Amino acid sequence: MNVTEGRPAAKVTRRAVNWILGSTVGALVASIVYPVARFITPPPVPEATTEQVEAGLADDPELLAGGFKIVRFGLEPVILIRLAADDFRAFSATCTHLDCIVSYREEKHLIWCYCHNGIYDLNGKNIGGPPPRPLTPYRVHVVREGGGPDRLVVARA
Ligand code: FES
Repeated sequence: MNVTEGRPAAKVTRRAVNWILGSTVGALVASIVYPVARFITPPPVPEATTEQVEAGLADDPELLAGGFKIVRFGLEPVILIRLAADDFRAFSATCTHLDCIVSYREEKHLIWCYCHNGIYDLNGKNIGGPPPRPLTPYRVHVVREGGGPDRLVVARA
């Protein structure tokens, strides 16, 4: 009589133990798999959808003094060059050779990469040194609104 009454109680206990073990193993596997999956999966990149950015004022002292500045276009650095009062150019500032940041040499009217003496013309074309490709061009809009100072907007070409 005790044996038949004891069996159901033992089954429940075994099920409970199995459930607890299964849950523990499941939680352990999830705690390993989830972080690995999050690490492997690339994060969403909102900058990939960036179509234009504000680049400051047209009479920015930095642009007037040296003729250029580096602005952020999402994750991409962009070199913004002022050639004349209404003549602005913008290109990816990442050298196409080994990813150094380029600068503008006002006295020579060219874009220069100091890392290996890479040279680009003012259309972004690689004309000297090791860079294998031209710089990616961007458009520059001078925005005049309501009598305020002119603003610069850099957009994808
Ligand atoms: S990284 Fe620019 S020339 Fe090498």
